[in-house]
Amino acid sequence: MVDLTVNVSGIEMKNPVMPAAGPNVRTGKLMLDAVKNGAGAIVSKTISVTPADDSRPTIKTTICRGLINCETWSEIPVQDFLDELREAKSAQVPLIVSIGYKPDEVSSLGKFIEKNIQPDGFEFSTHYVGREVEPLRKIARALRNAVSSPIWMKISPNFLAIEELATAVSPYVDGFVAINSFGPVLDFDPENVGPRLGSKSGTGWLSGKPIMPIALRIVYQISSVQNKPVIGVGGIEQGIDAIKFIMAGASAVQVCSAAIRNGSSIYGKIVQEMEQWLHQHDYSSVQEIRGLYGRALADRKKYSSLPVMNIDTEKCTGCKACIDRCIQGALYMDNKKAKVITSSCIGCGFCEDFCKFDAMSLEMTR
Ligand SMILES: Cc1cc2nc3c(=O)[nH]c(=O)nc-3n(C[C@H](O)[C@H](O)[C@H](O)COP(=O)(O)O)c2cc1C
Repeated sequence: MVDLTVNVSGIEMKNPVMPAAGPNVRTGKLMLDAVKNGAGAIVSKTISVTPADDSRPTIKTTICRGLINCETWSEIPVQDFLDELREAKSAQVPLIVSIGYKPDEVSSLGKFIEKNIQPDGFEFSTHYVGREVEPLRKIARALRNAVSSPIWMKISPNFLAIEELATAVSPYVDGFVAINSFGPVLDFDPENVGPRLGSKSGTGWLSGKPIMPIALRIVYQISSVQNKPVIGVGGIEQGIDAIKFIMAGASAVQVCSAAIRNGSSIYGKIVQEMEQWLHQHDYSSVQEIRGLYGRALADRKKYSSLPVMNIDTEKCTGCKACIDRCIQGALYMDNKKAKVITSSCIGCGFCEDFCKFDAMSLEMTR
């Protein structure tokens, strides 16, 4: 039995997978669907003081299983959204309400929601409030002074000084959510040229698989400079993706684009796959893998000189998968085995990724 329970900022969850704010949690029904399908907690669509008015179309597919969108926050007025939240509250899992944006807005919304709904926590979006540390710290402080529930700050990937921001904001929040969608970005069909999204210039925000390495980097950065929990989000489609986020330092994960693509059943599928992976690798809890990346980084083998690719001839099957990948021409076939021309190998390590037989490794000696 693998223990999937997590405690994030004092919020107990039966598993670490929750929906991320988006159309997948637009209504009470969709939030309940997430729970019925295995989510360990609910995060609502972001609400602000005035309802959004988004030009259509709002969501399109793009390269590498990504999505582009020009959806902003909820189009449902706050007063009506209370009913959606009440419906979601009937589920037996924690409810986190996403709010935005300016200090006075999060402060008044936080107080109002806390009084009427008593959620288990708040998440505040920083998507439309610039890239400077000080304004973001002010928003965090305003919400901290307004509510007693745990608060998570959702980080936009456009923000470059991540470590500085996390350090400055950490005293005011109970956790971080990383990341929001990336952009603005542009994509269109050359056979049918024109904007694909309804936004002013047809640009949008990128989410899904293509942003996963950005999200992993930011989760690692935030968790390495301060001690508050980090919730990882960006491109998670499978259990193994969620496992990576936990290893990078996340305490839990969120899913948006994969739920838009595949429906609410995705949450439970990810939970199941996580459990299976942990079991197969002899881990008894999610906790055991948290931060493994940082520890491996500290133990990393350091090359004192330029390394060279070494091929284990016992393991090499002569499949040639590595040969065509070497743009330096440093690999050749000899007697049905791949061989290295040491003087041509620049030690980049690229060919190793194509060997399915674990026959290649960078070695110190030339
Ligand atoms: C159509 C759409 C709408 C979104 N709306 C919100 C929102 O209201 N508030 C928010 O904080 N993030 C919003 N996001 C960002 C997601 O919550 C998430 O951070 C981002 O998409 C990365 O995760 P993913 O790759 O799993 O989608 C939205 C994303 C999409 C695709």
